[in-house]
Amino acid sequence: MIEKVKQSFIEKFGENGEILSFFSPGRVNLIGEHIDYNGGYVFPCALTIGTYGVVSKRNDNIIRCYSLNFESEGIIEVKIDDLKYDKNDNWVNYVKAVIWAFKEKGFNIEKGFDFVCFGTIPNGSGLSSSASLEVLIGKILIDLNNIDMSMQDLALISQFAENKFIGVNCGIMDQFAIAMGKKDNAIFLNTNTLEYKYAPIKLDGMKIVIGNTNKKRGLADSKYNERREECENSLAEIKKIKNINSLADLTPQDFEEIKHILKNPLWEKRVKHVVYENDRTKKAYQYLKEHKILEFGKLLNESHKSLKEYYEVTGIELDTLVEISLNQEGTIGSRMTGAGFGGCTVSIVKEEFVEKFIKNVSTKYEEKIGYKADFYVAEIGDAPKQI
Ligand code: GLA
Repeated sequence: MIEKVKQSFIEKFGENGEILSFFSPGRVNLIGEHIDYNGGYVFPCALTIGTYGVVSKRNDNIIRCYSLNFESEGIIEVKIDDLKYDKNDNWVNYVKAVIWAFKEKGFNIEKGFDFVCFGTIPNGSGLSSSASLEVLIGKILIDLNNIDMSMQDLALISQFAENKFIGVNCGIMDQFAIAMGKKDNAIFLNTNTLEYKYAPIKLDGMKIVIGNTNKKRGLADSKYNERREECENSLAEIKKIKNINSLADLTPQDFEEIKHILKNPLWEKRVKHVVYENDRTKKAYQYLKEHKILEFGKLLNESHKSLKEYYEVTGIELDTLVEISLNQEGTIGSRMTGAGFGGCTVSIVKEEFVEKFIKNVSTKYEEKIGYKADFYVAEIGDAPKQI
């Protein structure tokens, strides 16, 4: 794959300087959805699909970018000292965002670069193609400028870029899962303290199958910000009677005791999801450790139900895909993953049934929805690196 990107780099920009190659993964979240901006636990892992980047440092302040995923956009050129969001710069806004964030945090980035990338994560699929690109650019800036920065800080600065430059108020999960990814491990992360533990994915003959609804996530960003706001408003209301810092500080029992103060029924549903999802995520970590895969699967199903009924971020495509997946022989659990409103599902399927699962779910989904879903058997990969 990287050879193809390198070839394209040489065609576009020549081979004058030193050419370096990088890879940054995508991520899938196993459970703990819409929790990372509520101070709770999430349980994502990095994937072996992601973004490849080939780069060469320049001696001026120009950055030239080309993506094999957006060939019709051609080469997009920007300057380091003129980094403003511009719709016309399309995907390169993510590149600008990260450079802007580094400068904002006091890192001296003076020299530009030529850059060609290719992503193997379907765009808008909820597998974090944008966070993958952000962290890739961060890793490139670190290596090109000999910056001393931990991978954890790289995650934080990438999130800052997304929040403040792109304007999506995402939590830390995606950037953290990518920057801290470890082969064959999920990351059990406390988004309040950033303490984390790696959990080896040992599924005893089962596979993680990702199903892409191929539903384009049109209004996802504004809906995402709306949910965040609902949580913030609920928190402010609860704080009047209970001393907590974030919604995830509430146990299910606390929630049942105080829920009456949430006068808006929508808010009650949102908080219910957050509190119980956080509880499920802690249990899921434990079950995975104890190899209780059936119990783990049940939690995935409950998570989806809660995202559908209480958090209301699923939609007909995700619900249909989960429902069909659960009706297949050998499926242990299934749920939407990521922000929702389209994007992907994650299912645990017994290895011997995977092929049949993909075939059957494919046919049935297309019959119901009118277009195809795509499937990937997930492989859990490492953090961004030079290759
Ligand atoms: C998106 C955001 C994450 C997280 C998930 C939902 O992927 O970028 O921070 O909130 O949605 O769990």
